[in-house]
Amino acid sequence: MDMTTAIIDHTLCKDVRRCFENQTYAIPARWLYDRRGSELFEAITELPEYYPTRTETDLLKANGPAFAALVGPKRAVIEFGSGSSVKTPHLLKAIDPAAYVPIDISGEFLEHSALLLQAEFPDLPIYPVEADFMKRVALPEAVADMPKLGFFPGSTIGNMIARTSVDLLRFMRETLGEGAQLLIGFDRIKDIKTLVDAYDDASGVTAQFSLNLLHRINRELDGNIPCEKFRHLAVWNDLYARIEIYLEAQADIQFSIDGHPHEMAEGQKIHIENSHKYGLRDARLMLRAGGWTPLHEWSDEQDYFTLMLVEAHPYKYAP
Ligand code: AVJ
Repeated sequence: MDMTTAIIDHTLCKDVRRCFENQTYAIPARWLYDRRGSELFEAITELPEYYPTRTETDLLKANGPAFAALVGPKRAVIEFGSGSSVKTPHLLKAIDPAAYVPIDISGEFLEHSALLLQAEFPDLPIYPVEADFMKRVALPEAVADMPKLGFFPGSTIGNMIARTSVDLLRFMRETLGEGAQLLIGFDRIKDIKTLVDAYDDASGVTAQFSLNLLHRINRELDGNIPCEKFRHLAVWNDLYARIEIYLEAQADIQFSIDGHPHEMAEGQKIHIENSHKYGLRDARLMLRAGGWTPLHEWSDEQDYFTLMLVEAHPYKYAP
């Protein structure tokens, strides 16, 4: 399988160079989540305009018995990009799991949330794994023989372009194995104002979240970017069905990063995030392209958000 073009060695330094020296004016969204960025994202999830978190949480709370019936007992639950694991208890309570494996790139966060979860589920074996889930992950020996349920909530998949999403879904299938199930959240296509407001809130928390990326570059890469000269911009790209987030220079500016000089013209934009939105058929087709067969779906009344349960069936020769 040729995945080489999708695998790039990401370090903040390399990605920032790509942005300003190769003039791609794009920085991967993963760098938004340092400590401050993660705090700001937690604040975003509580904003009145940001509907995804509460909608998905309500779906998790309301459909416990249906999850239990379809998933069955004694699976190892493997969460990809577990972060603070706030949605996880709702799932764990519903399904009588045999083990929980949170995977996150930030070890610090991982230990902390694993401890909190252990207090709530004292009898559940928890095996945190510090890893980049964008690659194949080696699971702990202890869960090797257990049936698996992947958990990928939050519409995190929305941050990725389609081919990266499909790569990721295929990696997850390799990580979890044939017969595994996956419960995954998709943010739905809806009216443009609701979408744009969710990424450009009145209180400006999302703007702070975006601008923190420039502050982070200044902090970690010895930069002097004039952050106050940038504004946060959220636009709907209908062709790609996604919200695009930019930082736009409000004046001609000069700055240096790590001793290297750079300049940007007024109106020039740095693309820092995509948040793809899905129709049900879009999501199903993408899942099938990644090797996952749809089993069941749960949506809220407004069709703002959908949880999909899918299964890694053995490959069948077509037709
Ligand atoms: C964490 C990727 C799901 O796209 O809604 C929220 C990130 N960025 N507001 C999203 C985000 C700005 C969020 N995801």
